[in-house]
Amino acid sequence: MREILVTSALPYANGHIHLGHLVEYIQTDIWARAMKAQGHQVTYVCADDAHGTAIMLKAEANGVTPEEQIAAVKASHEADFAKFLINFDNYHSTHSEENKHFSELIYRRLNDAGHISTKDVEQLFDPEKQLFLADRFVKGTCPECAAADQYGDNCEVCGTTYDATDLKDPHSTLSDATPILKTSKHYFFNLPEFEQFLKDWTRSDNRLQTSVANKLQEWFEAGLATWDISRDAPYFGFQIPNTPSDEPDKYFYVWLDAPVGYMASFKNLCDKRAGTDEALDFDRYWMQENEHKTEVYHFIGKDIVYFHALFWPAMLAGSEFRTPTGVFAHGFLMVNGEKMSKSRGTFIKAETYADHLHPEYLRYYFASKLSDKVEDINLDLEDFMQKVNSDLVGKVVNIASRSAGFLVKKYDGMLTEVCAEPSLLEDITKTGDEIAAAYENREFSRAMRLIMQCADKANEYIDEKKPWALAKVEGAEQEVQDVCSVAINIFRQLMVYLAPVLPELTANAKAFLNIDDLSFASRNEWLLGHKINKFKPLMQRIEEKRRCRDG
Ligand code: MSP
Ligand code: ZN
Repeated sequence: MREILVTSALPYANGHIHLGHLVEYIQTDIWARAMKAQGHQVTYVCADDAHGTAIMLKAEANGVTPEEQIAAVKASHEADFAKFLINFDNYHSTHSEENKHFSELIYRRLNDAGHISTKDVEQLFDPEKQLFLADRFVKGTCPECAAADQYGDNCEVCGTTYDATDLKDPHSTLSDATPILKTSKHYFFNLPEFEQFLKDWTRSDNRLQTSVANKLQEWFEAGLATWDISRDAPYFGFQIPNTPSDEPDKYFYVWLDAPVGYMASFKNLCDKRAGTDEALDFDRYWMQENEHKTEVYHFIGKDIVYFHALFWPAMLAGSEFRTPTGVFAHGFLMVNGEKMSKSRGTFIKAETYADHLHPEYLRYYFASKLSDKVEDINLDLEDFMQKVNSDLVGKVVNIASRSAGFLVKKYDGMLTEVCAEPSLLEDITKTGDEIAAAYENREFSRAMRLIMQCADKANEYIDEKKPWALAKVEGAEQEVQDVCSVAINIFRQLMVYLAPVLPELTANAKAFLNIDDLSFASRNEWLLGHKINKFKPLMQRIEEKRRCRDG
């Protein structure tokens, strides 16, 4: 049995979960469920990413404390995730005791080993708000093309990138004040000291996808730079220990303590489970000397590869913790071929979707699109409807609805003692090996294709045997029971294969099939001389809402 810790990136505590986020949480959840179903011990943890200026300002705008702000958002995130059946073993917050402890510990160890340095940094400062301005809080005239109202890092008109200090007529978007230049001491993580380590790490043991490793190669060629890990007060985060008292208070930049949140959430779970049958040993997963006993995987979006494949492993190695076994990046969600957009109405909150459509439709649709590649995936609403209706309702559920009635009505729900079509059932049982491998390799679209091929075989078989016609033929009673029993057995296999994607539908199918196990191994024991329960519809078709012309 493998011992696996898996994470999804920690969503920011300043906004709602949307369908783009869900690509990641659904992908990770399917993987974690599939690995559990294959008999491994899998622990899936996540947390809210609760620190930073944006969250502080949002709380201020809402007239609440940052703590109140992040508590409300965390509750809403957890409610959304529950609707989409994301089965975290633990959901924590980066604003937690555990995270403070490990962030400080990692920082101290890095500092003691000489991996931290300081440097004076000159930055734009809002004299009214009394805070340093990140690029997105400064606007002004482009120094290149004179376009007005451009952000502090690049011009959306001519595409030039520049420093915020180069903007003409800069103003703070927070107060409208003209920023002044101000110098303060910053703390840096000396990433270049890890260049050789990172070159080896990123290229060995299949830790990264090929396209990600190639991207890193470009970054190595461009040269690694030291990383600014401090922010001056006011900031919502953890204070950096032992900083000079004649300077403003220094805080860890949000991205320093965010990945530490993975450890913190896991530690929080270890403490909760201490003394139970499910006890977990923190050190077994995070101490360097145990690196080969357990596996740690991070699922992330392509926009945060730099943090997870460079900063994070370097921070861990430099503070004598183990590094991840693998980092898996996915692409971005497009809607109808374009980036999600509020103005086009394609920016869809998780909650809004769930108000109208069943979350399992989306889980299946994403599964049918996801691969191990870092490719964007497109939500095409036409295609979405068509796939759900034809695959899940038309092919899969149909197998049970076509055969269960005869068995329950005429045979008291009993399946035959002997399988009438063993080669067909063997074939589908065997395909399970390929499906299991596809799940493990994150080739979910391949897994879904294989599953639908099995469903096609079952439907062809039923179409050929025509139990509805046989039922009217005198003397064909045995054959009707034979055919329907084969069909129900295939349906059971399909439920095993689809369980990681459709946990609710398959749980209902379990009750109908009168079985208590949907693990991958369970499919090897066919249902013979077994009694099933009355069939109830397991999934509705998606109906296109008719437009109402007269209001
Ligand atoms: N807080 C950071 C992650 C810290 S991890 C130590 C963050 N948060 S986020 O809320 O912006 O994004 C959370 C995850 O969702 C990221 O992996 C991000 O790539 C992913 N996605 C956000 N929008 C997305 C799409 N439109 N499409 C697919 N994934 C997207 O980044
Ligand atoms: Zn310009």
